[in-house]
Amino acid sequence: MQSIIIEGGRQLNGEIDVQGSKNSALPILAATVLLDSVSVIHNCPLLSDVDAAVAILTHLGCKVERKSHTVTVDSRGVSEYRIPDSLMREMRSSIVFLGSVLGRTGKAVLTSPGGCEIGLRPIDLHLSSLRKLGASIDERGGEIICSMAQKAENTVISLSFPSVGATENIILAAAFRNGRTVILNAAREPEITDLARFLNSAGCRIEVGSEGTVIIDGIKKAHDCEHRVTGDRIVALTYLCAVACTGGAVRLNKVNTRDFLSVLPLYETAGCRVKSDSHTVFLSMKRRPKALRDIRTMPYPGFPTDAQAPFMSLAAISEGTSVIVENIFESRFKHVSELTRMGAKIKIEGRVALIDGVRSLHGACVTSSDLRGGAALVVAALAAEGRSEINCPRHIDRGYEKIEDCLKMIGADIYRETR
Ligand code: EPZ
Repeated sequence: MQSIIIEGGRQLNGEIDVQGSKNSALPILAATVLLDSVSVIHNCPLLSDVDAAVAILTHLGCKVERKSHTVTVDSRGVSEYRIPDSLMREMRSSIVFLGSVLGRTGKAVLTSPGGCEIGLRPIDLHLSSLRKLGASIDERGGEIICSMAQKAENTVISLSFPSVGATENIILAAAFRNGRTVILNAAREPEITDLARFLNSAGCRIEVGSEGTVIIDGIKKAHDCEHRVTGDRIVALTYLCAVACTGGAVRLNKVNTRDFLSVLPLYETAGCRVKSDSHTVFLSMKRRPKALRDIRTMPYPGFPTDAQAPFMSLAAISEGTSVIVENIFESRFKHVSELTRMGAKIKIEGRVALIDGVRSLHGACVTSSDLRGGAALVVAALAAEGRSEINCPRHIDRGYEKIEDCLKMIGADIYRETR
């Protein structure tokens, strides 16, 4: 069993090169199946979720070569259209392979991804959208059995909610479909833009508008391409929360600051000094944070749900009371019980968390149950007085590349113990 051990209460100072975005890399890896060519993808983070995506690519018949952060995918040998439960279960977001396998082979058989620790994660918007594109879809015995039955024609799909995954699946299923597909109320997360940039570099014709409209003009054949995955905005926000909690100063490199511009003012509200240019952010903190008052998670460009948990750790030691409303996922407060073991004063009413900031937390033995909740426990432990032990770090490893090495580089007393 592994644990992350942290001796908290130390200021953090230094520089971190932020990893590539997990939530960009995963749909881009899935998209390589569509291209029937060779894709070279740089800045791909070393994460267990990326390992899971590569396993699916190999199963489908792709040749995959990995050299550090560069993944080369030759998808000319794709023959398979079924993804077994054993591979689907590895990573919930494997549902994004549905659009690419369907787009490439005309068929797809996957097991339903099911829920996860943060919510039921329904896929009704994915399936209803693919049906609008002409797919016939059967759901039986826990399997999703699809085939692209009808002849293509121009289609407009208006999403009732700007679902990131559904937007990605529509783009993938439509990229090689005759005619024009227009998505209205599409997700506007930066990862959608990065996926479109990757596909367009292979010859696709995808236009991502600023008001949530995406236009896809189907093409016949793609060509080889090369792409660099954008920096991970959530990892960046997590490390900024850590320094805002512990005090100190950090420079983050290799980020697209524009992707989280709307969040940066919150650190200044907390009392941090923040400076940024297009690809670096500098944050310093010399005092106890001030309460953030009111955070509501929203689809992009609103406050990102994936940053809710790390910000709750910041609120937990802030001066004053903060309110956090989680509007996106129905059970994304699993980190609260663990934060209270560290001395946090948090009350939950449905989707609303009321956080009474305390002067300091104390180290404790806590357990991570999901990716961003686990990251929040690391942030809290760095600020807490004394030793903390964070069990089940495998959840954290899904989205944070070598988290202890990164934090050690800026002065954290942190290591991983295997017993
Ligand atoms: C993506 O998940 C991200 N995952 C999530 O990051 C992120 O939290 C989420 O977008 C929102 O930004 C990846 O990109 C791999 P959604 P996704 O479809 O696509 C409801 C992390 O920590 N919904 O936008 O699953 C759904 O229940 C992960 O890195 C339907 O009702 O998000 C949820 O309430 C966690 N029906 C809301 O929409 C559907 O068919 C947002 O889901 C699809 C979604």
